[in-house]
Amino acid sequence: MSIAFLDGHYMPIEQAKISPLDRGFLFGDGIYEVVPSYAGKMVGFAPHIARMKQGLAAVGINLSWSESDWAELCNRLIKENGAGNLGIYLHVSRGADSKRFHAFPENIAPTVFAFTFEIAPPPVADKTRVKTYKVSTTRDLRWDRCHIKSTALLGNVLHFQHGYEQGNDETLLFNDNNELTEASACNAFIVIDGSVITPPLDNQLLPGITRQILLDVLRRDGRIPVEERTVTMDEVLSADEVWITSSSKEVAPVTKIDGKAVGNGEVGDIWLAAQTLYSAGKFDY
Ligand code: PDD
Repeated sequence: MSIAFLDGHYMPIEQAKISPLDRGFLFGDGIYEVVPSYAGKMVGFAPHIARMKQGLAAVGINLSWSESDWAELCNRLIKENGAGNLGIYLHVSRGADSKRFHAFPENIAPTVFAFTFEIAPPPVADKTRVKTYKVSTTRDLRWDRCHIKSTALLGNVLHFQHGYEQGNDETLLFNDNNELTEASACNAFIVIDGSVITPPLDNQLLPGITRQILLDVLRRDGRIPVEERTVTMDEVLSADEVWITSSSKEVAPVTKIDGKAVGNGEVGDIWLAAQTLYSAGKFDY
């Protein structure tokens, strides 16, 4: 049985109950994070908490938790739930009001909820053992604030479902100019002629922590050129390699897009180099 945290108390997840008037439930009015943890060691704890604080500030939710408050919560959940391969889910909603009214209520306390769920073991940098991903493509129909890690994920859910119903693992998203934004729950990268390329950060995509760590380990290593720039649909469809990244997947190679092989259809050499660097450096963040 997994142990969750809700508003100051630890309890079996089945006992965690929120009010139906909670604005997270009614409006998706909240911010969340997923921090991966392997054998009790978290990856990217500080940048995950920094991003959550930015999200809370962006939507005007006042929560005076310090980084060490979050660390205490995460470490306690790891202790309670066994130090396996865990996703630590952190969720702050604006709180429960006494009525349904769109404007921010005054004098309500944010709801803080956290639990852990099992994630796959981290991918190993081995072409023969890594899970390969098949993806669909579609027009990005979400909102113009995709840089905020909002709990209002229906747009993402519908895009994920689109790929899922086609038998795929994810969906790559393109804006009205046929430029890559990200995927429904991942950031996206392509490789052309040995260079790693990913769309620049703006309101069209989440500033992924895996993306951030990956770019940093690649730049520190210096052997593989890295570019943050606009990526067109044509470039994605003719790329040598395509990857998707997220906290639970790390760097995942995509071998099929809408049923067509990416590059030669095999997991690429640049992926191998990138996942090797990521595996070696991830616990430094
Ligand atoms: N998804 N883009 C979107 C839309 C995401 O939802 C995620 C993460 C990412 C990758 O971010 P990070 O590297 O920080 O995990 C990019 C999480 C894991 C989720 O919703 O479960």
